[in-house]
Amino acid sequence: MERRVASCVFFLLVSISVTPAFAHNVQAVFIFGDSLFDAGNNHYNNNCSAQADFPPYGSTYFHHPTGRFTNGRTVADFISQFLGIGIQKPFLEAQQEVINGSRTEYPSNGINFASAGSGLYRATNSDLGVTPIQDQLQQFQTLMDQNLVDRKLLEKSLFFFESGSNDVFNYFLPFDPPTLTPDAYVQTMLTEVEHFVDQIYKLGARRIALFSLGPVGCVPARTLIPGAPVNRCFGKMNRMAKNYNKGVENIAKNIPKKYPGSVGVFGSVYSIFQLYHTTPSSHGMSNVTDACCGDGTLRGMLQCGQEGYKICDNPNEYLFWDYFHPSEHTYKLMSKSLWAGNKYVHPINLKALANLTIT
Ligand SMILES: *[C@@H]1O[C@H](CO)[C@@H](O)[C@H](O)[C@H]1NC(C)=O
Ligand SMILES: *[C@@H]1O[C@H](CO)[C@@H](O)[C@H](O)[C@H]1NC(C)=O
Ligand SMILES: *[C@@H]1O[C@H](CO)[C@@H](O)[C@H](O)[C@H]1NC(C)=O
Ligand SMILES: *[C@@H]1O[C@H](CO)[C@@H](O)[C@H](O)[C@H]1NC(C)=O
Repeated sequence: MERRVASCVFFLLVSISVTPAFAHNVQAVFIFGDSLFDAGNNHYNNNCSAQADFPPYGSTYFHHPTGRFTNGRTVADFISQFLGIGIQKPFLEAQQEVINGSRTEYPSNGINFASAGSGLYRATNSDLGVTPIQDQLQQFQTLMDQNLVDRKLLEKSLFFFESGSNDVFNYFLPFDPPTLTPDAYVQTMLTEVEHFVDQIYKLGARRIALFSLGPVGCVPARTLIPGAPVNRCFGKMNRMAKNYNKGVENIAKNIPKKYPGSVGVFGSVYSIFQLYHTTPSSHGMSNVTDACCGDGTLRGMLQCGQEGYKICDNPNEYLFWDYFHPSEHTYKLMSKSLWAGNKYVHPINLKALANLTIT
């Protein structure tokens, strides 16, 4: 008996030393985007009024607010957990820690630069003090320029990009009506995406995942827009999101052609969302129209946590946690689909992307 236990332990030790610690090739993830990815950057930015750093945000998973705009983890968080490398810190938190000496180096598992409310247009929610995608890129560039991130780490890193929902939503806001046509507006957004990919590649990114927008016209907050329908999604807004998504898909497809040694992946968040919207019960959802937390029509007229808000008993049966954002349950299903599925992520899923060796 004892001998068997001993040989078992021996076998375990051998198998650990022979098998690499991870069945993949990723040590870090660098994340750029808006509230769908923000892990607390806005919270650490005193200039910024787009916040979710108060209860009941974070109540389901972290059990306290973290600055994330949901009740738990985001897609970026889940993917990092699937990778087994731990959730990335917000850049501004890491920066403050380096400055005040409570840490000596930037984290080796990557950095989250995403800022809620931001977009591809610099002007998008600039009055709220958000960090637009260009400035997120600049923050990363500065770290690289100052050798605060090891260049060799980038070969073992994934780069996530997701932005544009706020640009599309704001296009339809009644004040300050846009002068560009919807098509021209989307073209400008796509030019910014191309610029982002170009810059991130030059800085050393090789495995780049671009995520589509969801059906922005379905968010409960559409009730803030005069004339938007309540009993169905806002078609004009969804059309704009779809046009943008088509462009992003093309950009992702062209990444390996345009940038030697690189791989581009496109995650179709839009299609995944639609699946939940049309077949909620097969995805454990009972409510795909209203926000769990908020107030007013569709609970879309007041931010969750603000004075007078209401909250549902079962957040994870809701597609939407608050007026703009999915629940952790939605994010979890979405993450699984992007990580290991083959229907909504092209040409390979994130698991296969992580498994590639880049030299
Ligand atoms: C906040 O605003 C000040 C003054 O405009 C600026 O110097 C600082 O960099 C800003 N901080 C952040 C985190 O954006
Ligand atoms: C350093 O900054 C971090 C992030 O803002 C903060 O949590 C921590 O308390 C600070 N530590 C010191 C010693 O000031
Ligand atoms: C969805 O949730 C809202 C808010 O809790 C509720 O008023 C509405 O009736 C629910 N809709 C369905 C279809 O269950
Ligand atoms: C990971 O890479 C190995 C070796 O290249 C391959 O055999 C395996 O099928 C890959 N796994 C996935 C999930 O792509």
